[in-house]
Amino acid sequence: MRKGIILAGGKGTRLSPLTNVISKQLMPVFDKPMIYYPLSTLMLSGIREFLVISTEYHQDSYKDLLGDGSQWGIDISYAIQDSPDGIAQAFTIGEKFISDSNVALVLGDNLFHGNELIPKLEQARKQTYGATLFAYPVNDPERYGIVEFNAKGIVCGIEEKPKKPKSRYAVTGLYFYDNSVIEYSKQISNSNRNELEITEINKIYLNEKKLKVQLMGRGTAWLDTGTIESLHEASSYIRTLEHRQGLKISCPEEIAWRSSWISDKDLEGLASPIANSGYGKYLLRLLNETLNEKELHKPHSNQSMND
Ligand code: DAU
Repeated sequence: MRKGIILAGGKGTRLSPLTNVISKQLMPVFDKPMIYYPLSTLMLSGIREFLVISTEYHQDSYKDLLGDGSQWGIDISYAIQDSPDGIAQAFTIGEKFISDSNVALVLGDNLFHGNELIPKLEQARKQTYGATLFAYPVNDPERYGIVEFNAKGIVCGIEEKPKKPKSRYAVTGLYFYDNSVIEYSKQISNSNRNELEITEINKIYLNEKKLKVQLMGRGTAWLDTGTIESLHEASSYIRTLEHRQGLKISCPEEIAWRSSWISDKDLEGLASPIANSGYGKYLLRLLNETLNEKELHKPHSNQSMND
């Protein structure tokens, strides 16, 4: 079984004053809160048990928005990260939640979209041993964890924010690990910027020869929402696609319904109170889809809670 952690801590100071009272990962990305996107990514991989990690100040907002997840046929629990001491801290904070399961971690401000994505996500979820990361070509590799490949195209190194990057392939904020990640997260120490770096954990998996890196091609979008500009760009991207196709991107209600985790009646119950919003109207429209349409848009084969 694999559980999912969404890391939504930090102060989001780069988006101030927007983030003075609202958590960054609750900011709108076009028509929905940012956290819907990473949550949907993990739901599309087939995960149904989640831990949302946030600051104490923002925790109630997350609880108000997402509840216990039962409305979407999933489980959501919550934990606090007192200060942003590093992404790798998610595994010590989430140790009890993870228990003896495998785990996936997604950063609460990372947006993924693309046709080829779902099979890759499902494959990573099902992998019981080692770690799977996703690498994506970027124009500004100095800002990310960067993968180094040898002459045979095999990964031979990972560096965090290198001054002289050895490739343009950034490690995205979506990570699938086996249960040893808990132990590894206790082995690493603080970096120069005083954080428990996720890259240090990835290096352990690499040294142990337990690391798989999947490339995300040009058919996939990995979007950043760290600055006002990139937040705006992400919103425009989602708006353009949704407007053209009449299909929403990363709509948890829809994913749950298409996966048969909730029934038609459940979906109607979620949609009716918000029927005066475009979002509510969209959910109601789904219920009128023909059987054929329903089959065409099915995200993945049905899974039970325990596979
Ligand atoms: O976005 C992918 C990159 O994320 C990777 O390529 C890097 O290897 C990885 O270190 C990380 O890069 P950044 O250092 O730029 O991440 P940042 O500090 O911006 O944090 C990413 C998100 O995670 C951000 O929304 C805040 C949240 N966060 C971060 C830290 C350090 C937390 O919730 N808690 C934390 O302790």
